[in-house]
Amino acid sequence: VWAAIEAQCWPEDLAADEAKCGARIDAWPEGQWGAERDGRLVGVVTSQCLSSAFLKSGAATYARLTDHGAYGASHNPSGDIFQLVAVSVSPDARGMKLGRLLVDHALDFARSLDGIARRIGFTRPIGYHLHSDMKIDGYLDLRDENGRWVDPVLDFHLRAGARVTSCHADYRPEDGDALGYGVLIEYPL
Ligand SMILES: CC(C)(COP(=O)(O)OP(=O)(O)OC[C@H]1O[C@@H](n2cnc3c(N)ncnc32)[C@H](O)[C@@H]1OP(=O)(O)O)[C@@H](O)C(=O)NCCC(=O)NCCS
Repeated sequence: VWAAIEAQCWPEDLAADEAKCGARIDAWPEGQWGAERDGRLVGVVTSQCLSSAFLKSGAATYARLTDHGAYGASHNPSGDIFQLVAVSVSPDARGMKLGRLLVDHALDFARSLDGIARRIGFTRPIGYHLHSDMKIDGYLDLRDENGRWVDPVLDFHLRAGARVTSCHADYRPEDGDALGYGVLIEYPL
């Protein structure tokens, strides 16, 4: 069922298939949550823990940092970094704060874990392909007339208190909407 939500929410190349969803649950069942509505799974938030040493030891890419989305070789139960990997809500259940509820639940859980010093995520600037004439830093700062970030995913996180730490080209080259970029955000503890 989780894989069906993925397929509804992510471009084909980026969606986790059944094997990956199963591998995530095997790696760290406590870090995977779903939201139900009328008895139906409509949203998922997925996370893992990393050690700072692992984060620093190589390129900031989705493939390396999440073991291609399966977490088997990346999740470290004694890691000091809690990583929100993705949040997905079915299109017909969006706009009801389920995404926020899921992320806040995961962030609260991270606070309850011993030894967590940072709560991070590599988020996708999904509207960057529409502004590819701009430098990425300028795009990340772009606001609309109401002061909201033009990028909807950044807006989702930054309005809730996350901060941008750094920006990484080739984080996920197959992410055409984000032109491959990953934006490292951090929710202060
Ligand atoms: C991001 C996502 C989980 C939000 O789910 P949700 O339940 O609608 O979230 P909420 O109701 O809590 O918050 C809505 C906010 O999400 C943001 N948002 C992020 N992506 C969005 C999208 N593709 N479409 C519309 N809003 C989006 C907006 O800021 C929106 O604010 P608004 O309701 O004031 O317009 C959902 O849009 C989704 O599954 N998107 C596809 C997967 C994805 O890109 N995930 C994020 C990267 S990990």
